[in-house]
Parts: sequence; C-alpha cells; structure tokens
Amino acid sequence: MEPIVVNGLEKVFAGGVRALSNVSFTVGKGEIFGLLGPNGAGKTTLVNILSTLLLPEKGEARVMGLDPAKDSLELRKIIGLSGGYARFLPKLTGREHMKFYADCYGVKPDFKLAKEFQMENKLDTLIEDYSSGMLQRLGLIIALQHRPEVVLLDEPTIGLDPQIAVVVRKYIKKLKSKCSAVLITTHNMYEAEEICDRVAFIDKGRIIAIDTPKKLLRKTKSKTLEKAFIKLAREGLE
Ligand SMILES: Nc1ncnc2c1ncn2[C@@H]1O[C@H](COP(=O)(O)OP(=O)(O)O)[C@@H](O)[C@H]1O
Ligand SMILES: [Mg+2]
Repeated sequence: MEPIVVNGLEKVFAGGVRALSNVSFTVGKGEIFGLLGPNGAGKTTLVNILSTLLLPEKGEARVMGLDPAKDSLELRKIIGLSGGYARFLPKLTGREHMKFYADCYGVKPDFKLAKEFQMENKLDTLIEDYSSGMLQRLGLIIALQHRPEVVLLDEPTIGLDPQIAVVVRKYIKKLKSKCSAVLITTHNMYEAEEICDRVAFIDKGRIIAIDTPKKLLRKTKSKTLEKAFIKLAREGLE
C-alpha cells in the first residue's frame, strides 16, 4: 500500500475559483515528495484535503489506506500537519502548547525535538513574544512530536532565518527513516532540489510534471528546477 494516493482530485471554491483540476499522484513508502509551485497554485488546498480539513468536489485520496473524507478521526491520529494552521494562544508558552498537544495524542512532549530545532531556550516565552520563525518551529515540533506515520508540511521553512532553515531541512531529510512518507509543499525550488526524492510541479491547480529533481532537470535541459518549472509551465500554455 502506498502511503499517499491521490486520484483525480478537483476543488472549486465558492466564486468559481478552480483550485485543483484532476490532480493525481502517489507517494511511495519512505519517500519525501515535494509539491512545488507558485503562490495560488493549489498546494495548501491539496494539503487541506489530505489532512481532512477540506472536502474535494471530485476524486479521492487515501492516506495509509484511510479516506480523509470519511475516516477523518482515525486519520488525524496518524498524520502530522504543519503550516499556517496552528492556532496558538498568546498568553501561553511554547512549553504549555507542547504539553497540550502531546496530551491530545496521549504522548509525552518531546523536548529533544525542541532542542533539534534550537527552541529549548524559548519554550518558556509567551507566544505573544514569539517571532514568526519561532512560531513556525513550534508548529513543526507540534506536528512531529507524536511521531506521525505520515507527515504533511505546508511551506515548512517559510519565515525562517537561513541558518534555521538549514537545520529544519536536515531534520526533514531524517524523517525518511522515522515515518512512512513525507509530503512537503514549497515555492522554494532550491529546497525541493535539496530534500525531495520526487517532486510534482503544480501550476494553477494542475500537475504539469512529476519526477525526480534530476530527471526534471535533464528532461527540460535546465540548470535549476526554477528554470525547469518555467519551461514546463510555458509548454502547458502552448
Ligand atoms: N477558502 C477559499 N475560498 C476561495 N478561494 C480560495 C480559498 N482557499 C484558496 N482559494 C484560492 O484557491 C487557489 C489555490 O490556493 P492555495 O491552495 O492556497 O494555493 P497555494 O498554497 O499553492 O499558494 C488560489 O487562487 C486561492 O486564492
Ligand atoms: Mg499555500
């Protein structure tokens, strides 16, 4: 069983915005799969569907064999999700948030993980005094501390200092051996090249290519994924 299977997904928002058109792909066991595309491409919409937060109009998805549209309670237990989703309370500390979310999953808070992300000295700071980079890292810790089977990371390094982004990327690579699959979204083409086994280029709700970064570069005779993306997006228009 492939950890993530997406088949013919369509999402149309009120007002007629077609956020996803016939999106299909699978993520294999042990894979780090990147969903790569510009702002508004549909990346967050797709992650929202996989993580049970949004229902598609058409098509279906499976995460570890579970249907996000039907098995939402079961599925939420085995995924870890980070992105713009975490709603933190300004008058509580990072440590209190870690404990609260650990309790929700029936596990102990993982302070070693906080150390990995260089957050151990910031856990007793109130959320209202957190920088965007600290919020982002706390979101990642909370997404990962219950040791999810499938990890969904929506723009995991957005808002991070370059040095911390390096630490986070390194950790994401290590997730390969800790869970069944990782799906990350990014508009940072360098990041995708650096950490993803395979990437799907997504543009205006459509997947325009799926392959390993190396093969995408070779096929498009490009030096960077950014150039490969631009070529493929242009071809799609012709
Ligand atoms: N709740 C919503 N209502 C209406 N339109 C939305 C909503 N969420 C996203 N969209 C639109 O869907 C498209 C895809 O958005 P999104 O999935 O957030 O893209 P990305 O994460 O790749 O930047 C955009 O055109 C966006 O404006
Ligand atoms: Mg997004």
